[in-house]
Amino acid sequence: MLKTINCAELNKKDIGKTVKLAGWVDRRRDHGQLIFIDLRDRSGVIQVVFNPETSKTAHEIASQLRSEFVVQISGAVSARPGGTENPKMPTGDVEVVVENAVILNTSKTPPFYINEDIDVNENVRLKYRYLDLRRDRMKANIMMRHEVVRYMREFLYAKDFLDIETPILMKSTPEGARDYLVPSRLYPGKFYALPQSPQQFKQLLMVAGLEKYFQIAKCFRDEDSRKDRQPEFTQLDIEMSFVEEEDILNLLEELFSGMMAKLKPELKINKPFLRLSYADAMEKYGSDKPDLRFGLEIGDISDIAATTEFGVFKNVVTAGGKVKGIVAPGCAGYGRGQLDELNAVAQGFGAQGLLTISLGNGPGDLSELTMEMVKSRASKFITLDQVKALAGRLGAKMGDLLMIVAGKSEMTIAVLGEMRKEMARRLNLINETELKFAFIVDFPLLNWNQEEKRWEAMHHPFTQAKEIDMPLLDTAPEKVHGRHYDLVCNGFELGGGSIRIHNADLQRKIFRIFGHSEEKINHLFGHLLEAFEYGAPPHGGVAVGIDRFVMIIQGGETIRDVIAFPKNQSAYDMMFDAPADVSEKQIDELHIKLKMEDMENSKS
Ligand code: AMO
Repeated sequence: MLKTINCAELNKKDIGKTVKLAGWVDRRRDHGQLIFIDLRDRSGVIQVVFNPETSKTAHEIASQLRSEFVVQISGAVSARPGGTENPKMPTGDVEVVVENAVILNTSKTPPFYINEDIDVNENVRLKYRYLDLRRDRMKANIMMRHEVVRYMREFLYAKDFLDIETPILMKSTPEGARDYLVPSRLYPGKFYALPQSPQQFKQLLMVAGLEKYFQIAKCFRDEDSRKDRQPEFTQLDIEMSFVEEEDILNLLEELFSGMMAKLKPELKINKPFLRLSYADAMEKYGSDKPDLRFGLEIGDISDIAATTEFGVFKNVVTAGGKVKGIVAPGCAGYGRGQLDELNAVAQGFGAQGLLTISLGNGPGDLSELTMEMVKSRASKFITLDQVKALAGRLGAKMGDLLMIVAGKSEMTIAVLGEMRKEMARRLNLINETELKFAFIVDFPLLNWNQEEKRWEAMHHPFTQAKEIDMPLLDTAPEKVHGRHYDLVCNGFELGGGSIRIHNADLQRKIFRIFGHSEEKINHLFGHLLEAFEYGAPPHGGVAVGIDRFVMIIQGGETIRDVIAFPKNQSAYDMMFDAPADVSEKQIDELHIKLKMEDMENSKS
């Protein structure tokens, strides 16, 4: 090795030892007689000193060093002179007095500072990702990701799971998102698809009798990027035979709580994980992935609103709509400007408008509220008793602001779901050092696709219906619940899974409900249906997004920050410049013709 120890491992105990180090020049300070270098390797930084009295040659070399040069030094570890210790650096008590130095490589001036966590255009960071990853924050993310994956593997090995790889070239079968396709050279006109997840393979592994499977699996979905979505991402994918919902949920709780206790003891986590039905989550938080670190629950006030003389309320309720609201604590004093702004925010989320009711001006007892203390556009049409009833239903106190939206039920909860997050941010109600885990259960099995006028799977087509709802499959499919569960954390869907159908007839029936013809069913899923006829065991599983989870625990803004080489927001690889042109010969071999106008468009 070109080094005997890592930079950040040195401390007072090493004083007097001679060490050999190798790394990058993080900072260089030239004090004329003495030159100081912060030498950085993966472990961190140590100060090294070049003193011409110790070595004239090394000092001359030091004067040639620039940021990001790669250098090897050897010398003695010594205590820093009194008063020059740096308590902010883990190695701040010591320094290495250089006796020999070798420049292993030079470096151009980097396009951004490596040693400072300043905002840099993301596309520039992605083009020079190898430099971006040298920065402390990014290095910490990648190292934490490694720890997370390692914990997952060790946890599952200890529980007898088999780590099994599944193919990347498979067949296009509808799973929810758009597939990435790979044209075949050997079979003209035919395509492989990249897996959206190993879903069918892991089920087939259960049919194969392997009982407990997991994989750190790459998945590919051709969908628009978002801060928590990438075209290729990684799941912890799990499948087990002879299980029920509780077995999977308990496994996840044990895995994630144990992992956080070991890897992030500074984060507060809840145990047991909360349980919420899909219906409750939607009703109270307007989302099936609610952020439960704060309250601000949505309340239904339609019945009270209908008794007022306020036209909007009356009309909406008469038309079968709903009036719902949340409480913004302590915000009764908001002025015109702030209220107008909130109204605009609510409109941005899809509301016609946001009605606010200010309850007094400061703390006090709600019983002391008078109509003079109530400020609202609707105050002429609402009595004091009605205001108190609305406040009571929503759990408001004196000094609070009621924020109310009227309209179609789905719209009201969607808007208020966003408004509660907005207000939590504005009012600083979010504890950034807390992870609030919950399982969302009792999902509907099916979802009506209005555009295509057909049923589709809420999760995926392989999810089993609840036994008790089975008879409703023929009569009232919308009422059937699936044996599906999601793991959510801090407003993100971390994972989803279900107990699966393992019976060919039932699986066929579900495909028929989706409107697939017998021919299409056999073409797309014949392999699975056939497998189910050879003694398929009851089974279930789950997949958790590793990128998302690491982003959450690292407090990142986007999953791109926890993936070594992500695509940018437009699914483009800035470093490789991919997707890219290929030679005509390659295209020919694939029996493909490109539409020239498409190519021209993509260039412009
Ligand atoms: P699902 O589609 O819910 O389930 O995906 C599971 C988890 O994968 C993560 N995820 C993503 N992460 C980053 N970018 C994306 N584009 C992306 N899409 C999904 C999320 C999500 O919760 N086969 C089923 C699992 C099963 O039933 O066992 C599946 O893939 O964190």
